[in-house]
Amino acid sequence: MTITLTVNREERIFSGDPRTPLVDVLRDHLRMTGTKAVCREGFCGACMVHVDGAPMASCLLPVGSLDGAAVNTIEGVATREHLNAVQQAFEDHDVVQCGMCFPGMVMTMSRFFQTNTSPDRDEIKAAMTGNICRCTGYERIIDALMSIRTNEATP
Ligand code: FES
Ligand code: FES
Repeated sequence: MTITLTVNREERIFSGDPRTPLVDVLRDHLRMTGTKAVCREGFCGACMVHVDGAPMASCLLPVGSLDGAAVNTIEGVATREHLNAVQQAFEDHDVVQCGMCFPGMVMTMSRFFQTNTSPDRDEIKAAMTGNICRCTGYERIIDALMSIRTNEATP
């Protein structure tokens, strides 16, 4: 089966098994390895991408269900000159440990800040419930995210 996707604003063609999870299409076929496959069961959030603007777990999405969809990945959120605001906040607050959870967190929280530009700490915690950090640096991650709100930057 042939599937046409727009990935980070470029048209891409996938030919193969329509049951292939989107995360594997991104990593193995398109060589975009920023999106991580950790649990492959939909609960860790490491594989989060935007599909038609909505954050979704790409390990749960068979590519055959996505013909014509617009997919944005971690590779598409920054320019050469500027990091995305969530990426910049994580770097400024030196929060990255092993880094496996961060691509998914950036995708989830970038979308969140587009819908809520001035969240409080509890709202940030609630928005992050689908993103698990096994290195457990949550408080520093939340401090970094709170700085985006304080600076009133929009990712
Ligand atoms: S790898 Fe998809 S949610 Fe964990
Ligand atoms: S930094 Fe290691 S899983 Fe989050």
